[in-house]
Amino acid sequence: MRMRAAVLEQFGQPLVVQEVELAEPGPGEVLVRLVACGVCHTDLYTASGADPSGYVPCVLGHEGAGVVERVGEDVTLVRPGDHVVTLFSPQCGECVHCRSPRTNLCLAIREQQNRGYLPDGTTRLSRAGEPLRHFMGTSTFAEYTVMPQIALAKISPEAPLEGAALFACGLSTGLGAALRTAKVEPGSTCVVFGAGMVGLGAVAGCRLAGAERIVCVDLSQERLRLASGQGATDTFVGGEDAVQRILDMTGGFGADYTFEATGNVHVMRQAVEAARMGWGLATMCGVAGKGETLDVIPRWLIQGRRIAGSSFGGLKGREDVPALIDRWIAGELDVDPFVSHRISLEDVNRGFELMEAQDGIRSVIAF
Ligand code: CU
Ligand code: ZN
Repeated sequence: MRMRAAVLEQFGQPLVVQEVELAEPGPGEVLVRLVACGVCHTDLYTASGADPSGYVPCVLGHEGAGVVERVGEDVTLVRPGDHVVTLFSPQCGECVHCRSPRTNLCLAIREQQNRGYLPDGTTRLSRAGEPLRHFMGTSTFAEYTVMPQIALAKISPEAPLEGAALFACGLSTGLGAALRTAKVEPGSTCVVFGAGMVGLGAVAGCRLAGAERIVCVDLSQERLRLASGQGATDTFVGGEDAVQRILDMTGGFGADYTFEATGNVHVMRQAVEAARMGWGLATMCGVAGKGETLDVIPRWLIQGRRIAGSSFGGLKGREDVPALIDRWIAGELDVDPFVSHRISLEDVNRGFELMEAQDGIRSVIAF
């Protein structure tokens, strides 16, 4: 079929929205009609050329939600009409990682996905007979996508798909960091550095986990107001003195849980130093720049502080995303404030500009 898609032709250049070909789903694959897709930093990171593993040409986008249109042979997990959220982090349910409760890093299709192919090593996307590669196994800056069934979370049809799209990446990453990776305990004190989509999700996750005190640190008063709306009990503008301010707020000890959601390695260091001696856990959610390293004085670790990393919030997507969406439907989460701009696919580059200008939390493409 022919459809419109936003193609990354060259690094550092605007995406080019154009007609491309999409082949029918093969065995174990699903054709999804996209209804909404968020514009995320990872798309921009790859488009800019900063991501060393990036490739062109490809169709970007990975924060999608839509409706199953058709299924290939041997598809048992979804059927036409199902509402789904796309998962760049799939869940095969069978690999050694899927069978362990300790990680969400499914191994089933990793290699091919990282190179821009579907699990059988080919693409469904093409243009004038030339293959066009997929991105993050999702390629959701397009009217339709073909994805493996293990990379789709079947969600409640009651959930508005515009908000559901945010659960495909940013929001789930933050929620999961608090609920799954850190496993925040009721009554605890948490600090979240960064109040973008992921940080705000972490604030909401800490609240859902029953944290007593949630401190949010960011450079923007406007985003800090959003953090208060998600359950932050204290907020302040970050800077060199952030660690000292947190120590002052916590009787000199630091927080039980800290979360870093900026991608800045200096802030990551602050998150480690602001964690409590004895048991403080610092969870890193942000993606640092190429070649950057996190500087940690070993004494902080000897004193009982721990550091964790979190990819997609440690969530096992097919199980955990529908459950989070059910909590949203039940009124435990307020997703509307995150959608700051609604744009068309044609305007996808404006979504990148808004992100670079730090204007709003999320632009969502409505198809
Ligand atoms: Cu993302
Ligand atoms: Zn797996």
